[in-house]
Amino acid sequence: MPIITCIDDLKALHRARTPRMFYDYAESGSYTEQTFRENTTDFARLKLRQKVAVDMSNRSTASEMVGLPVAMPVGLAPVGLTGMQHADGEILAARAAERFNVPFALSTMSICSIEDVAAHTTAPFMFQLYVMKDQEFLAGIIDRAKAANCSALVLTLDLQILGQRHKDLKNGLTAPPRLTLPVMMDLATKWRWGMGMLRTRRRQFGNIVGHAKGVGDTSSLMSWTAEQFDDRLDWDKIARIRDMWGGKLILKGIMDPEDARIAADFGADAIVVSNHGGRQLDGALSAIRMLPHIVEAVGDRVEIHMDSGIRSGQDVLKALALGAHATWIGRAFIHGLGAMGEAGVTAVLELIRKELDVSMALCGERKVTDVGRHNLLIPQGFE
Ligand code: FNR
Repeated sequence: MPIITCIDDLKALHRARTPRMFYDYAESGSYTEQTFRENTTDFARLKLRQKVAVDMSNRSTASEMVGLPVAMPVGLAPVGLTGMQHADGEILAARAAERFNVPFALSTMSICSIEDVAAHTTAPFMFQLYVMKDQEFLAGIIDRAKAANCSALVLTLDLQILGQRHKDLKNGLTAPPRLTLPVMMDLATKWRWGMGMLRTRRRQFGNIVGHAKGVGDTSSLMSWTAEQFDDRLDWDKIARIRDMWGGKLILKGIMDPEDARIAADFGADAIVVSNHGGRQLDGALSAIRMLPHIVEAVGDRVEIHMDSGIRSGQDVLKALALGAHATWIGRAFIHGLGAMGEAGVTAVLELIRKELDVSMALCGERKVTDVGRHNLLIPQGFE
């Protein structure tokens, strides 16, 4: 067993143990992948400010997200097909999050259904919704999330139309994988994954099964999305969903100060500054560079969360220092899950918490909630 000291170690194991088409599905961005790359390289441009000879005892990474206490302000973001990275992936990730006391958001496009995850966890999780045209289906899935006692609805606004990821098309992504010769050759060395998948029957999209007839391969998934997802989504429809849901609402995918102002006026409990991990609008600014503009536009009128590009505790610290109240991770936890299942997700959370804790201390901060712009050196032209 290799010694795991950082998320890159888990990424290497994820790559070695998971079918190539699913690893590529996670580790890709849309079109030229420019925004996907800049999400991480822009974090590297921001520098942390070291302080010495200050009391760094009794530190705490504890905070809260939409009023819920958390061990650190880092949630597991909704990731479609999580259950294909590892058998029962959504359940395992939800359990790791529950033990660690951070939020887990279940994707509409998950393999394990809302009911599957609810049956195997005790703490409430959040549910991420894509807005579909079919009103009956929409009302039904919101009712299912309510029945499962979900703690918040994460309404994703930036995928009403699907950005193209070349690798998925080239790999002929299917769930479960179609057993072509290249796929079988790939799987021959990935016995762990195969054994895991043999033990599970959850290989379909658990939340949309029945509604999504014949959705298995990429092209049918793309045409299904085009057919079902509401490309006329507007703020009136978002208001109707808010009323149907009636609980805490997080609006995800805000990348424009004007949209952030509207979301704040609208009364969302939080917004997530996110470009969907560089998977949608290629050519958009990285989320970390957009963050200060959103903070300037809405201040503390709405809780500001951020994701896209976070790969370490230092990145979390930088996002908080630039004004995010909390952060979310996508690929970072997926690497842990693909590498080692629940233990891998726990390892990711532990790594991030330790990195955050040590870096915070070296910046002279004892409480994560005290982190601010004074902890940063922002390069010219960043904002
Ligand atoms: C996502 N993301 C996503 N978001 C969402 O609201 N619903 C979804 O089903 C998915 N599916 C999905 C699949 C995969 C493979 C990835 C990598 C991402 C976006 C996700 O919630 C989050 O915004 C990004 O992952 C954040 O970027 P990082 O942390 O991966 O860089």
